[in-house]
Amino acid sequence: MKIALIGGTGNIGQGLAFRLKLASFDVIIGSRSAEKAESKAEYFNSLVERLGGKGDIRGMVNEEASSNADVAIITIPWQHAFDTAERLKDNLAGKIVVSPVVPMVAEDGFLRYVQPEEGSAGLQLARILDKSMVVVAFNNIPARRFANPEEKFRWDIAVCGDNQEAKRTVMEIVNRIEGLKAYDAGELKNSKTIEALTPLLINIARKNRTKELGVRFV
Ligand SMILES: NC(=O)c1ccc[n+]([C@@H]2O[C@H](COP(=O)([O-])OP(=O)(O)OC[C@H]3O[C@@H](n4cnc5c(N)ncnc54)[C@H](OP(=O)(O)O)[C@@H]3O)[C@@H](O)[C@H]2O)c1
Repeated sequence: MKIALIGGTGNIGQGLAFRLKLASFDVIIGSRSAEKAESKAEYFNSLVERLGGKGDIRGMVNEEASSNADVAIITIPWQHAFDTAERLKDNLAGKIVVSPVVPMVAEDGFLRYVQPEEGSAGLQLARILDKSMVVVAFNNIPARRFANPEEKFRWDIAVCGDNQEAKRTVMEIVNRIEGLKAYDAGELKNSKTIEALTPLLINIARKNRTKELGVRFV
């Protein structure tokens, strides 16, 4: 299965890229710049090979990455995720699109969830990408720890979506990543609750001076 990380050159892109590759998926890094995508792919490949995997991640512009993928994960800051989705709409038609997107702003030293017009980032993306199957997942992962190959974790991932088959596929992808466990969180309209959890995790970590926090349902 080919998984493209749209804007996979950033924070959450790193952990997803090498961990999906170690789980034997075909990984594509997308970027606005082909050069940046190729150079990041090269860096991720050296990391994968150091960890005993096969370094064959490819880098290409977001349009090409979307067209080549079976599944695309939108790893772009929320302020730019929706206009990027508009631009990639045709390339992403008929595909599973995963949204880890969390809209939030800093206010008085804390982060606050910013609810998009449609109710959540996942719902907003589903409205734009009406020919794709949008599934929400990975929103509560702390990117820095996830990007560190030395980090040992056991985190749960709430997954929601309206297309049952697409949701099942994404849950299977999540479960192939060592240390992650997928939970079915129902329909896409539940994505607001999942997204809004992320600023809470960051605020708790800051206020209590702990390391970045993930989620585990016990
Ligand atoms: N960081 C976390 O801990 C975390 C955790 C869970 C979920 N998330 C979600 O994951 C998404 C990515 O977060 P991140 O921290 O990885 O983001 P990031 O590192 O700040 O940015 C990721 C990539 O987005 C692309 N980008 C930046 N501005 C853009 C624009 N104007 N138009 C198109 N692409 C643009 C860039 O790629 P190019 O320059 O290569 O095009 C950049 O490398 C966000 O929606 C966030 O809410 C993040």
